Amino acid sequence: MTRRELLTSMSLLAGSRTARAGPRLEISAARLREQLESLSVYGRPAGGNFSNGVSRIGYSDADLAGRKYALGLVEAAHLKARIDAAGNIFVRKAGKDAALSPVLFGSHIDSVPNGGNFDGDLGSLAAIEILRVLGENGIVTRRPLEAVVWSCEEATFNGNTLNGSRAAAGKLRPGELDGISRGLTLFESMRRIGGDPARLDETQLRSGAFHAYLELHIEQGGTLDKEGTSIGIVEGIVALDHYDVVLTGMANHAGTTPMADRQDALVAAAQLTLVVRELVTEEPGRQVGTVGHLEVEPNASNVIAGRVRLSIDLRDLSTEKLQRLGEAIRARALAIAAQTKTQIVLTQTQHAETALASPEVQTVIQRAAEHLDLSYRRLPSGAVHDAQVMAAVGPMGMIFVPSEGGISHSPKELTGWEDCARGANVLLHSVLTISG
Ligand code: GLV
Ligand code: MN
Ligand code: MN
Repeated sequence: MTRRELLTSMSLLAGSRTARAGPRLEISAARLREQLESLSVYGRPAGGNFSNGVSRIGYSDADLAGRKYALGLVEAAHLKARIDAAGNIFVRKAGKDAALSPVLFGSHIDSVPNGGNFDGDLGSLAAIEILRVLGENGIVTRRPLEAVVWSCEEATFNGNTLNGSRAAAGKLRPGELDGISRGLTLFESMRRIGGDPARLDETQLRSGAFHAYLELHIEQGGTLDKEGTSIGIVEGIVALDHYDVVLTGMANHAGTTPMADRQDALVAAAQLTLVVRELVTEEPGRQVGTVGHLEVEPNASNVIAGRVRLSIDLRDLSTEKLQRLGEAIRARALAIAAQTKTQIVLTQTQHAETALASPEVQTVIQRAAEHLDLSYRRLPSGAVHDAQVMAAVGPMGMIFVPSEGGISHSPKELTGWEDCARGANVLLHSVLTISG
């Protein structure tokens, strides 16, 4: 698709399309809130309430239950869901011209362990709500519309992230379907949620599969909240490198092994954790690095750790900077291994590419915010999103709404109900503009 074709189809040359659908068509804010509250039950800690957050790990029983709830919403909207080969949920609302590619929009409903009730849930339920409200108002767009709920977006499958969208876009690495987490291979996990991964090749989303992809999401940082700005228009999403690190020492008696004779894998892991922080903060820039997952064996108070597995998550807009940091960390790991008499093996298990949002889609989102009299600003995304996988397939744009205190991946994650509705309405009007 040429830039001009995209611009024309988005009516940017002919003025805003939103007026045709009524100046103030809106989603039902009360219904969206009620649905977010209802979804939060699936994966809620026993005896807890909404403020205790959620653990809805991709492919888990809680995830299955949450997906069933989302499928019920699709039915309530008098629409039919289709599960693709990777287990992603697609919901199509026909347009006037069936020959045109759809406008695709959505997010995910799986969560991190002890996560919040807005990350992914908002963009997913808002997408279904938009189709419902258009149906209720008898609005048929020129292009088909398609809502999507991606499966297992979070890095809960061996630290790998964006599983459903990468699988849909043909971006899984060789052998990735055979990886095992929680007793199931990725292949089996996709089947568990209704996918048919043997058919991934056939169903792959290729260039032209959609006209544009949009995702509404909470910011997960504090910029909008601090400024009191309602809408963030994402300019680009950071690249992410993930490393799986195994440190092998020797398990031995904590009381009888002299300090000098130890091969303590946990001491090596502690040093490596500090090295990640040191190297990442050594140069100016917005790069970040995190050791967030540790498995210690045998993890007993009176045994020196014989083996540790840990994760390193590095992010920046520059892929080159991430590579450089990875190499520097690898070199320091060798030195730590020698000094602690351990072995350290670093394996890079993922690289998610930096993705730029389409300038045309950004303009559409800006117009929608203006149409709704909402303040807005442009900003980058430090979190990864399925949108960055879709950016390799077609034009992509993201809408952010404020996260109170910039807190996310925590039960304390909170976005005001009004902000949720504002974001959903900006998505609605952006979709109307783009779909013509
Ligand atoms: C996804 O939420 C991530 O940024 O890790
Ligand atoms: Mn997340
Ligand atoms: Mn998310």
